Amino acid sequence: METLRIERDAELPGLVTITLNRPDKLNAINFRMHAELQATCGELADDADARVIIVTGEGRAFSAGADLGRRTPANEPATPLSTANATPSPLLERIRSSAGNRSASALEGLDQVTIGAVNGLAVGGAVVFLSCLDIRIAAESAWFSIPEVDLDIPLTWNALPRLMRELGPARTKELVMTCDRFSSEDALRWGFINHRVPDGELLPAARAMAKKLLEKEPVSLALTKSTCNALAESMVPAHVTHADREFLMLARLLTQERQRQ
Ligand code: COA
Repeated sequence: METLRIERDAELPGLVTITLNRPDKLNAINFRMHAELQATCGELADDADARVIIVTGEGRAFSAGADLGRRTPANEPATPLSTANATPSPLLERIRSSAGNRSASALEGLDQVTIGAVNGLAVGGAVVFLSCLDIRIAAESAWFSIPEVDLDIPLTWNALPRLMRELGPARTKELVMTCDRFSSEDALRWGFINHRVPDGELLPAARAMAKKLLEKEPVSLALTKSTCNALAESMVPAHVTHADREFLMLARLLTQERQRQ
């Protein structure tokens, strides 16, 4: 894979680590990463040998969020991969505009228990990805932000329902409207992360959590996770933001219009 590293743990059978792997771009999430992440989650759906998944970032960031480089890549495969060479059309644009929503759903829909190990920084879409995981552990130096309003782009990827569930309405509104950075200490206090550990202990702490979970009876664990997910979905259903892709398309049109003027 070009943007992800997938590793089966030699010492802890059942543990798979997905590492976002574009360190020179702070693991910014491009179309290729969406495609690879969705394909990986698809493969894990049938994999009874994988029971716990750690998601982390290579280098000095978990991820700097959506790739702000090329917005409408002509020669990069969008999701699904089968649309890579399709003729441009409004419908194709709509399909491509849901890449983030589909990656987030794919992560949230994993049957395995998922652990986010947050190194460095997590911005925008990276915070959304984290909100799709079951347990989050951050390094002490890690920080977070949700800067879409400042960037004048819509916050999509079904972010708001998931953030509402994890952080509550008032905190979510404040963070998405002020775009203020928040520290791992804040994130711990607000319940967005489960644990905050010294920087050098991040992966060992995530693996220790994985080990604990791998010792549980697997079917019981899977049943408990799916019930928790069903309850979370009934708290604030992710699909309420079903028009995210329309917002993205509208934002793109407005940008083009401004550039024309
Ligand atoms: N999309 C594409 N490339 C990104 C990126 C993003 N979201 N975030 C960082 N990068 C790239 C930079 O362009 C730079 O690449 P280059 O070396 O080829 O020029 C590299 O990653 C390192 O980033 P840099 O800005 O030099 O690191 P920094 O430590 O000074 O700053 C951030 C870190 C996160 C504060 C800064 O990179 C940033 O603000 N990134 C954008 C975050 C963002 O708004 N994401 C979108 C959310 S919707």
